[in-house]
Amino acid sequence: MEKKIRKICCIGAGYVGGPSMAVIADRCPYLDINVIDKNIERIAKWNSTNLEELPIYEPGLKEVIKRVRNRNLFFSNDLEKNIAEADMIFISVNTPTKSRGIGAGQASDLKWIESCARLIGEHSIGSSIIVEKSTIPVKTAQTIKSILDSYSFKKTLDNEKIKSFSILSNPEFLAEGTAISDLENPDRVLIGGEDEMAINTLKEIYLNWIKGSKIITTDLWSSELSKLIANAFLAQRISSINSITPLCELTGANINDVAIAIGMDSRIGKYFLNSGPGFGGSCFKKDILNLVYICNHYGLIEVADYWEKVIDINNWQQKRLTRIIVEKLFGTISEKKLAILGFAFKANTNDIRESPAIRICKDLLEEGCYLNIFDPKVNELQIKEELGVNDKDRLPETNRGSWVFTSSITQAVNGADAIVVLTDWSEFNNLNFENFSKIMRSPSWVFDTRNVVNVKAAKLYGFKVWKLGDGSTN
Ligand code: UDX
Ligand code: UDX
Repeated sequence: MEKKIRKICCIGAGYVGGPSMAVIADRCPYLDINVIDKNIERIAKWNSTNLEELPIYEPGLKEVIKRVRNRNLFFSNDLEKNIAEADMIFISVNTPTKSRGIGAGQASDLKWIESCARLIGEHSIGSSIIVEKSTIPVKTAQTIKSILDSYSFKKTLDNEKIKSFSILSNPEFLAEGTAISDLENPDRVLIGGEDEMAINTLKEIYLNWIKGSKIITTDLWSSELSKLIANAFLAQRISSINSITPLCELTGANINDVAIAIGMDSRIGKYFLNSGPGFGGSCFKKDILNLVYICNHYGLIEVADYWEKVIDINNWQQKRLTRIIVEKLFGTISEKKLAILGFAFKANTNDIRESPAIRICKDLLEEGCYLNIFDPKVNELQIKEELGVNDKDRLPETNRGSWVFTSSITQAVNGADAIVVLTDWSEFNNLNFENFSKIMRSPSWVFDTRNVVNVKAAKLYGFKVWKLGDGSTN
């Protein structure tokens, strides 16, 4: 048996809440979906008539929004009304790593989850199904349940109508850049919970476009844990392949050939074996740190240390790249100009959270160089929030380098000593080396950390090339 639902509310209009509710609205025209967020500016962008101004960039998102917005998908800041009217409430708020106090640097800060639970307890009427979409530590559902139970109990004492809540865990596995296709055709949908009626109600929604065999149900804790472990395993593959890149560089082997050779073993598989400047994004680091924290909490020190190494290798790879760039440019980059191509943490997104470009650019600036930064979707303000003062605000007496934001690749490479490719945007596959050789300082270098550059073309026009994990270019 399932419950009939008509109104859904999602708290959090971010990279997860926005696209996932858009796809549910598209596939279930009979549902009214209200995405609410405390951030007024963000909601205004979701409601902008100019679809280029949506707060996040995702291929295919504009088209879905065009179909469903103000049909059965609505964005607003009206938390109270929408919570009160909803039959089902998704929690899709961010859960950053705690920056202070107990567990600082590892544990997730659950203050937003807690405030959502309190809002729901306060404003919800009748019975509601609460769905955790945010990635959270194991047993967070327990926290939400305790808060909601306390509100129900209080209402009973006040002789008000008793509310009842069922809590489900329904982690989102979409990756940014492919969010719409991941949501439309997921590998699996995972629903964890104890209340069969609530599980079936959520399952009915997904059955509108996903085969039943792809929808798996578990207990709450297994569902919550699976999300953390899925991210930890994916990140572990990246650190594993990245750990082999210097070995290839030193022995003359090629990391891409190695990845193809090992990936053809069906037990290993070909995905997530692209070497690069290290993983970024809002989830991998945070979720592994969470796993480490939980393991330590249960006294599983060796297990915690094992997973922490995945992050250590990621940091080491980023540091290593700066060292190589400095070494190749005759041991100093002070007052040299570098064109940074790509600032997003991966292609096809405007998201820079935990992007390897942040660490690498900071390290390069410490060496006193000038950076011309270009990214097709990231804007100057986002970069400024991470790197701080740019060329315009720089005090002349500091030895620290400075950066400028450029609006084209040509502008970025103009007068530069080296090009450093940090994101795998397809625009970087066919760089115009003929033109660049005329406007760059020589010897001109290309550092390709993403395996996207056409090395032959670069060499043809006299470029010196360093390619990650490629022993033949070193
Ligand atoms: C995702 C996932 O949901 C989360 O599981 C993961 O841990 C981090 O990434 P994401 O959608 O990418 O979150 O986060 P973000 O883009 O920051 O969006 C969260 C939104 O929630 C923000 O717009 C924020 O304003 C909103 N929010 C947060 C509220 O509306 N209320 C709150 O109390 C807290
Ligand atoms: C990830 C998970 O894939 C997704 O299932 C989860 O819901 C959220 O976290 P996301 O961070 O959006 O998604 O992107 P993902 O494609 O996993 O890439 C993460 C980082 O790893 C990026 O910096 C990317 O460039 C890097 N990466 C990915 C590699 O370096 N090599 C690879 O082979 C794959």
